[in-house]
Amino acid sequence: MPSFQRHVFVCINERAADHPRGSCKLRGGVEVRDRLKSELTARGLSKTIRANNAGCLDQCEQGVTVVVYPEQVWYGHVTVDDIAEIVEKHLIGGQVVTRLLLADQPHLGDRRTFPVLEVGT
Ligand code: FES
Repeated sequence: MPSFQRHVFVCINERAADHPRGSCKLRGGVEVRDRLKSELTARGLSKTIRANNAGCLDQCEQGVTVVVYPEQVWYGHVTVDDIAEIVEKHLIGGQVVTRLLLADQPHLGDRRTFPVLEVGT
């Protein structure tokens, strides 16, 4: 059984283009997910960190929404150009990418660092 150290959920939910809440797919969710997968593969991390598709995460106005577990860090307005930074700084280095954090994360408190990835385990 794989032993993933982190799961990264990327919302790819789609709604009609005229829906008032919008949707992450129409804001580039699939492209964000694909870039995350390719970045993890390129770095040899696809067996350590899992990129998962997600349905609506109820943060539609903040889309593309990405959430990292187990630490429950929520990012919003993520683009393909943000993925390398999320992988390098957060997923490998254990430091939250503060500029992309969604505002309301009471469980996170002042915490901005997490265990550094144990690559190769
Ligand atoms: S459509 Fe992505 S959070 Fe709702």
